Order: sequence, then structure tokens, then C-alpha cells
Amino acid sequence: IPVDVFDLVIFGGTGDLARRKILPGLYRRFRAGQMPRDARIIGAARSELDDAGYRALVAEAVREHLEPEKRDEESLAAFLETVHYVTVDARGDAGWKELCALIREGTVHAFYFSVAPSLFGDLAERLRAHRLADGKARIVVEKPFGHDLESARELNRTLARHFDESQIYRIDHYLGKETVQNLMAVRFSNILFEPLWNAQYVDHIQITVAETVGVAGRGEYYDKAGALRDMVQNHMMQLLCLIAMEPPYRFDPDAVRDEKLKVIRALKPLTARDIVRGQYDAGPGIPSYREDVGNPDSFTETFVAMKVEVSNWRWEGTPFYIRTGKRLKARASEIAVVFREPPHAIFGQPRDGQGNVLVIRLQPNEGINLWVRIKEPGPGGMRLVEVPLDMSFAEALGPAAAEVPEAYERLIMDVIRGNQTLFMRGDEVEAAWAWIDPLIADCESCGEPPILYEPGSWGPEESAMLMHREGRRWREIR
Ligand code: BG6
Repeated sequence: IPVDVFDLVIFGGTGDLARRKILPGLYRRFRAGQMPRDARIIGAARSELDDAGYRALVAEAVREHLEPEKRDEESLAAFLETVHYVTVDARGDAGWKELCALIREGTVHAFYFSVAPSLFGDLAERLRAHRLADGKARIVVEKPFGHDLESARELNRTLARHFDESQIYRIDHYLGKETVQNLMAVRFSNILFEPLWNAQYVDHIQITVAETVGVAGRGEYYDKAGALRDMVQNHMMQLLCLIAMEPPYRFDPDAVRDEKLKVIRALKPLTARDIVRGQYDAGPGIPSYREDVGNPDSFTETFVAMKVEVSNWRWEGTPFYIRTGKRLKARASEIAVVFREPPHAIFGQPRDGQGNVLVIRLQPNEGINLWVRIKEPGPGGMRLVEVPLDMSFAEALGPAAAEVPEAYERLIMDVIRGNQTLFMRGDEVEAAWAWIDPLIADCESCGEPPILYEPGSWGPEESAMLMHREGRRWREIR
């Protein structure tokens, strides 16, 4: 279903994120018929370009970042007609009049701040001064949303001076991933899982977001952030919230976000001693992290593993183990809900306290599988084996699965529709910082370097130890 006609201004429209995600994503929605032909995309940045120059940049971005089967020249040419460009000075007056002239009355107005957070205030002021953003305009902001609690509060205050919370769309692209939304669908639309979804029946939960890439090219940002700020404060936290939250009374932005906020507020504080921090070393033909970022003394972590506890009625006694890292063995993200064993083993099977496992695979091969025990086929008596009840979305949905929008596509369309459910509210972001800030401060002040790990491994041995100590182990991810 096409969304309403919109004028979308992308500040930072020539930047890396615009080229890799925003523009190819918009093109995909255009090609799928969801973006109206008379919508307008207006790139705005400092570079001196005209419409033709920007269109060439957009075409190149689409060709570079979308596989051939996801694009065709005819629809790309039509898409480019919706694209415009203005050179604007975020801190001065240049370009704003031209921008005003491109924005039409009666369309949905959205402004994407794909720029450094230090420019948010300037952009917001100028949008107001030029009467570009009225009470119905939408503002989209990217992570990193602050560097700590104080800076996140400051950003929230800056935005709040000019816009109402209902106009602000803070992106965490993990919330736009298909399977992440499926997590909510599976939990809240089947009777099978929810009655068991608590400490009485769940032994523990594992959340893994593993990447094979390093951070070459992003060193300047990453070396000041590290995995705790880059992945845990936002993406990992969001995944944890969706698993742990109470059922919202309906699938409505504030109802969902209220429940997520309660989870964040219930997290037990952690100290540096409770977590494993790692940093990738050099491997054959692979530079070390320190070489990648050009900082031979860096203490920044590229891997973390930790046990997180949610202190509330539902989860007391069920740990959430989370780990994420760069240059690991595989690019794989999954959530595993490991249930307890039945109370009594009538087949005399060995027991380790852990039974069925529900695995939600975010990427690659999105899908869900449920591991159940059955009788091993054959005459060998009542021997048990574990088999998966497997649902791969690609198989189950056939060609429709290929049309599933990627995270950014979906989120931008949600902005146009005015649906904030998959965006973070200001208080949520602040609560996440409030939880992680003391942990980061403790890591920084304890002066311990991160443990070096081999590229292509699953991180430092200590990460496995974290589980072994408690009679558990990370699930093998293939
Ligand atoms: C970004 C982080 O938010 O998410 C990156 O800044 C990370 O460091 C990326 O690589 C992972 O996203 P995805 O969608 O590739 O899992």
C-alpha cells in the first residue's frame, strides 16, 4: 500500500549512511510501489552539487549497494526524477530559501538528520526559523544518540526545545529487522510460548550478535565508542527488551515503549569484573584492531560478553547472556531461549537442567526453530535425540521473502506513516545510558586492557568460561 505523498529532506544526503542505506532503501520502496511517484527526496549537504550531480551520486549508490536482481534501470530513472539537491549551510543562511522552495504544502514533511549530533541544534533552529518544520513535521535522528547519559540528555533537551516527542524518530535499525518484529509476533500471537516465558520455565537466554568485519575506516568513531556504546547500549538492549518485556496492552507506540522502559529500569547494575572485554588481535594477513584504528595503545573493546539480570517478578533467576564482537568466526545473530527440563526423567536420560530451545535467527537465513526431543528412530529402545522444528522464512514464504523490506526501508516508511512503535523514545535512550554509564566508567577506571583474541574465533576463552562456571555453554552457531 503506497504511503502518503511526502517531501523528505536528508541532511547529510551525500554521506556514507545515505549512500549505503537510506537512498538504496528508498529506491527499493519506490520500485515496490510503496513510495509514491510524486514524493520528493531532497538531499541537503555542504557539497556544491546540482540536481543532476546528486542524481548521479544516487544512481551510483543504488548500483553499488543493491544486487542486480533488486534493481532495474527503468525504475531507477523514474526514481531519480523524484530526487533533488540543495547546498545548505547548517550553521549559516546559505541554501535555506532554496530548500523552502522545494517543500510543498499538503505533503508529509520529514527531515532526516544524518549528520553529526553536534549539528542537531543548528538544524532544528534553522528549520524553525525558516518555518520549515511545523507541528506535523517529523525529525529522524540516527545513533549514536549521545556518548553517555549527560550528552544524550542534552540532545533530548535540544530537540525538545523545537519539537514535540511525537515528532522525533530515533532510529535503532535493529528494530526494523524482520525477525525482530517477528519476535513480538511469535510471543504475543501464539498461546504456546507466553505461558512458559518466565523464570519458572526458562533456564536462561542467549543473545549473540557476531560480525566478521573489523572496524577499518571507522576508527575515529569506533575507538571512542567500543562495543559497549556501539552495540550494547542500543541494539543488544533493544533485543533484550523485546524478549523480556511484559505484553503491551496493544501494539501501540507508547504501550510498547512503556514496557521496554520498565525492562531497562529493572536491569541489575554491573561492574567491570562481571563482564568479558576483548579486542581482536592480528591474524594471518589481517591487521589487529590497534593497527586498524592507528592507535597502538588503544584499550577499546571490540568484543563483550556478559550476564545481564532483569530484577523483576517474571525474570528473577533467569540470566540473559549477551555477547557481541567484530572479526568473529561468522556473521550470525541469534537469540536462544533455553527452557528448563521437564521435572522428571522417565526415560532415565542424563540431565543438565536445560531442555527445549527456541532459536530466533536474525541473520543470515532469518527464521525460527524450536528444538524438541524425540525418540531416536530404530529399534534401539527409548533413546532420545534433539531435532529442530525448523521454519526458515525464505522457505516458508517463498518468493515473498525476497521482497521483505530491509530495516531502513521499513523504518523510513514508518516515519512517513507516522508510526513510532519501532523507534526509541527519549526516556528509553536515557535509561539505557543510565544503566551502562557506570559500567563503562568502571571499565575505564579499572585500567585493565581488553583480552586479545584471534580473528576468526568466538572471542576470548573467558567468554566461554563465563557460561561454564554456571554449567552452561554458548550454543554452537553455524
Ligand atoms: C551499527 C554499528 O549500528 O550496527 C556497527 O555501529 C555494526 O558497528 C552494525 O557493524 C551492525 O548492523 P547489522 O545490521 O549489519 O547487523
